[in-house]
Amino acid sequence: MKIDLTDVKKLSQWLQSAEKEELSDIIRYFYEEASDNECLELHKLACEARDMHYHGRVYFRGLIEFTNYCRNDCYYCGLQRSNKCVTRYRLSEEEILGCCEKGYAAGFRTFVLQGGEDMYFTDLRLCRIISKIKEKYPDCAVTLSIGERSKQSYKNLFDAGADRYLLRHETANEEHYRKLHPAELSLENRKRCLYNLKEVGFQVGSGFMVDSPYQTYETLAEDFIFLRELKPHMIGIGPFIPHRHTRFAGYYNPTSRHTLILLSLVRIMLPKTLLPATTALGSVDKQGQIKGFAAGANVIMPNLSPFEHRADYALYDNKLYTGLEAAEHLALLMRNIESIGLIPDLSRGDYVDMQKAGVSVSSDEACRKEKN
Ligand code: 5AD
Repeated sequence: MKIDLTDVKKLSQWLQSAEKEELSDIIRYFYEEASDNECLELHKLACEARDMHYHGRVYFRGLIEFTNYCRNDCYYCGLQRSNKCVTRYRLSEEEILGCCEKGYAAGFRTFVLQGGEDMYFTDLRLCRIISKIKEKYPDCAVTLSIGERSKQSYKNLFDAGADRYLLRHETANEEHYRKLHPAELSLENRKRCLYNLKEVGFQVGSGFMVDSPYQTYETLAEDFIFLRELKPHMIGIGPFIPHRHTRFAGYYNPTSRHTLILLSLVRIMLPKTLLPATTALGSVDKQGQIKGFAAGANVIMPNLSPFEHRADYALYDNKLYTGLEAAEHLALLMRNIESIGLIPDLSRGDYVDMQKAGVSVSSDEACRKEKN
């Protein structure tokens, strides 16, 4: 396969119209044949694509993992309901607001409330929490990541003030979806939820795991095609990491390489997307998140959850929770981002077409705040 790695616009157009077979070929090429140098060229093109729209800015989100109860039994996830080894917790409204307070003081202007599908959190409870956050911090965006709900529920949450919603599609191939999920979950419903979220007005994030069991070049090509159709504002892509209490325990050891390639290809295909360097990427490779930025990512989600619960939010084994991904090390993280020529930006960091003028804070300022 001969790929022209000199012109980002050409490659972008090609990726936007390529057929399934062509997409699986290009992914296969970078996984199996491309030299380190070619991968580097690809990553550089991806940064070029990002910088056309985001000008080297990396956005921060404060992550609040507010419940690890989950009604679902996704085969890959450590929080699946049949994992009896998990110490379950849910944060109270006060605790969630406490996380926001700490995050706001550190400079965060987006809070991501992430949790399992925990029915304790009814619309009523969630709407109260969302409106309180928005009342106290009207300059902040609230992102939800709480799974599948009805369209009416999404509407209620949006009307209460939530701005964005993350719901990875996980895989766009039916058969693959069934191998990763129990029968009561369906790709059809997952997709319906994503389109409902868009219709309701959310900035929507989708995405998938890399090297998940049974993933193939073909299923990845279908992921790309689905992303092209959905045109999400955000795309979460991170390595699959086996969890010891799931059926995929002992599944091969993940690395960052494939994720970095896919981050770059997705960035070039959908240049405006907000693309996080995920905690999973940082968990398989100490330098993973920085490499992610060098491959075209532009979002990072440091953890604001109370320390005593961090270990209990284990989607996978060896999840980072004391290092650079922790909000406590914000200034260091910002300096690392600056050291590769990018600009840490603590403003809301909306999707480029939805941005209002924002303020950014430098690492020096963040450092001062941390010391105070
Ligand atoms: N490895 C990596 N990512 C995982 N997720 C769930 N389990 C794992 C795992 N074992 C991801 C899913 C989910 C997101 C919250 O975390 O893609 O959507």
